[in-house]
Amino acid sequence: MRVSILVALAAATVLGAFTYMSSAGGAHKALAKPSPRALSQVERGRELYIYWCATCHGAGVGAEGRAQLPGTAALQEKYQGNLPALLEERTDLIPETVSLFVRNGISVMPFFRKTEISDEELAAISAYLTRPRPKR
Ligand code: HEC
Repeated sequence: MRVSILVALAAATVLGAFTYMSSAGGAHKALAKPSPRALSQVERGRELYIYWCATCHGAGVGAEGRAQLPGTAALQEKYQGNLPALLEERTDLIPETVSLFVRNGISVMPFFRKTEISDEELAAISAYLTRPRPKR
């Protein structure tokens, strides 16, 4: 009887610690930064984009029940639908524009240091955002 209580306690402690660890860093930290693999630059850029940018520029629902994530919401407001609010749907972006915003930030968007996103990684993100797509 006593043993089973101890076992249950131990299990609860391990489960609690695990739940704490997996929630501590938030969803952002839980994703591993994509390592250089035999991915095409566009595919690698997509993974880096999901890691660094999609938290704000994705299609998801924002905090506190807001309809959109902050980047998507801000670009919807800025362009009023004349350009897609989702960065990934834009066809007007050029690498210089992407670099300018990523290295300098704007409003709530932080700037990213080369120790976070290297020039080579930024080039991959730009390659993803400017990938050739069929004309609509
Ligand atoms: C913390 C949220 C956040 C993150 C993370 C973020 N952004 Fe942004 N980004 C924004 C917001 C908000 C704006 C719009 C600011 C404004 O003009 O009011 C923006 C604007 C931009 C713009 C300018 C688009 C335009 O037409 O004005 C680009 C390009 C951009 N972000 C790219 C990126 C990339 C690439 C990443 C990842 C490396 C990234 N952002 C990460 C929030 C974010």
